[in-house]
Amino acid sequence: MIVLSVESSCDETSVSIIKNGTQVLSNVVFSQIDVHQAYGGVVPEIASREHVKGITVVFEKALKEGDMTPSDIDLVAVTKGPGLIGSLLVGINAAKAFAFAHDIPMVGIHHIAGHIYANAIEEPLVFPLICLVVSGGHTELILMKDHYQFEKLGETQDDAIGEAYDKVARTVGLGYPGGPVVDRLAHQGRINYPMPDLTKQPGYMFSFSGIKSHVINLVHNAKQRNETLRIEDLCASFQEAVTEVLLDKSIKAIAEYKAKMFIIAGGVAANKGLRKKVQERITDIPVTIPNFDYCTDNAAMIGVAGYYKYITQKTTDTMALNGKSRVRLE
Ligand code: KG4
Ligand code: ZN
Repeated sequence: MIVLSVESSCDETSVSIIKNGTQVLSNVVFSQIDVHQAYGGVVPEIASREHVKGITVVFEKALKEGDMTPSDIDLVAVTKGPGLIGSLLVGINAAKAFAFAHDIPMVGIHHIAGHIYANAIEEPLVFPLICLVVSGGHTELILMKDHYQFEKLGETQDDAIGEAYDKVARTVGLGYPGGPVVDRLAHQGRINYPMPDLTKQPGYMFSFSGIKSHVINLVHNAKQRNETLRIEDLCASFQEAVTEVLLDKSIKAIAEYKAKMFIIAGGVAANKGLRKKVQERITDIPVTIPNFDYCTDNAAMIGVAGYYKYITQKTTDTMALNGKSRVRLE
């Protein structure tokens, strides 16, 4: 079964061709990062325009690289939300037009389901599993008892982990997106700045606004006193505190729900500190982390999720499919 998938929820325009839910025949990603960098973050209106500029070229390139023609495609999968509404609509309209013109069934996919299914490109999923979702907009622990069954155990009460990384990076002048830079500098520093205890949130809840403000205050106070901060040490201390709470709660969830597999999803799954800790500390069950290419936004993950949604839920969407900036995963 051949799936053509489309992702345009934020600042990446991407189209992919997936064979039988696992084989990535093509995954074309046009990143807009350069365009948004000047503004220190994604500007929604600019993002929509860039998607419009890129979408048809990305479609053509994905078909060509996958050595496919429209008549080879069995299913179209497209991100329906959450995300920037203007950006989502560009991908959805392109997917609808393609599906309608070639009479192909279509499924709308939750962006986070896509991030979760990026793991199925690496290994078949084994249930029950615990998934740690860590992206620019989400931080949550998900229990999956079967394909396409998502149960949210807990989530952040305020900022998402990626958002905290980006804010910390911006405060110390590391540019956008800051997560990867903080990660790189953390490996050159020492853990010697005290950080707030993040394990106080009950159960599987998270909170990252406290630590974010703590770092901002440290930076501002140092500036006022004309002191220089050791940025690498600050990054190392921040990274240690946030990855520790993610690990702590993941390990508790694995034990409570007797999980047979642990997976990580979302852009922050690319974090080397987190990947190392997970591999060192979760050794009793299989652990899967997507390949770096499939951690940040891409259409391949949407195609894999689309395949599983279609074969397990046996539902498709009509031409009335609409984008939603906020939509629940469950
Ligand atoms: O999943 P994603 O591509 O977009 C959303 O769906 O939100 O995640 C983007 C987030 C950004 O906040 C970015 O800074 C963060 O992932 N990120 C990282 C790393 N690579 C990307 N954060 C920490 N360490 C990294 N290596
Ligand atoms: Zn994402």
